[in-house]
Amino acid sequence: MLKIIKAKDYADLSRKAANIIAAQVILKPDSVLGLATGSSPIGLYKELIKGYEAGDLDFSKVRTVNLDEYRGLTPDNDQSYAYFMNENLFKHINIDKANTNLPDGTEPDAEKECARYDAVLESMGGIDIQLLGIGLNGHIGFNEPAAAFTKGTNCVDLKASTIEANSRFFATIDDVPKQAYTMGIGSIMKSKKVLLVANGEGKAEIIYKACCGPITPEVPASILQLHPDAVVVADEAALKVLMEKCPEALN
Ligand code: GLP
Repeated sequence: MLKIIKAKDYADLSRKAANIIAAQVILKPDSVLGLATGSSPIGLYKELIKGYEAGDLDFSKVRTVNLDEYRGLTPDNDQSYAYFMNENLFKHINIDKANTNLPDGTEPDAEKECARYDAVLESMGGIDIQLLGIGLNGHIGFNEPAAAFTKGTNCVDLKASTIEANSRFFATIDDVPKQAYTMGIGSIMKSKKVLLVANGEGKAEIIYKACCGPITPEVPASILQLHPDAVVVADEAALKVLMEKCPEALN
């Protein structure tokens, strides 16, 4: 069952979600963390950095796997997710870069890269906690609405609405890559724990659908309702529709 935690605002959400990841790292210093990009987790990463600087968190034994990467971008491109992770987390903490993993956007052979990344995930022996944001259309990682849930790592054609939504980070919409490699929904569902963060009114409708609506690949995040240990931490704005239409979901 989905546990939904209501935060007052983005700062509160970031602290609450960071505390959940911090507890994981404290309890199991060699945890495998599944990490996410996008604007939603940035505050949470800042809190983890603070925890490291305060001497409360040690990442020296932590291993990480990221959800996704744009196809065609090199890690030194400032729009790549490899670059994002380095800037927003890795370079500020004592993680061994050799223990961090992302799909390789520069590998042109999609079949080869998906198989390689699945093997990486397999070699980790299970993700302890997978962090997720949510796209406006319900995508998790880059698993877009589709006729079926994906299993393993796949190469996706991004929806026009996702390209549009993500164009805010690029100079022009034409610069947004049209494809991405993403961990599959099956791999996300195999994580021992899932933590989804969402903020702002723009996410209110999709959070309601993901948490309370039918479980359908048309809303990829809705499958989290079937996960045995999934937590959604959202601010009041992102919970607006849910609070109106299904307040009983807030447990
Ligand atoms: C991108 C990422 C997702 C992320 C989503 C939402 O498409 N691939 O992992 O959840 O954006 O981004 P934001 O948190 O900026 O709303």
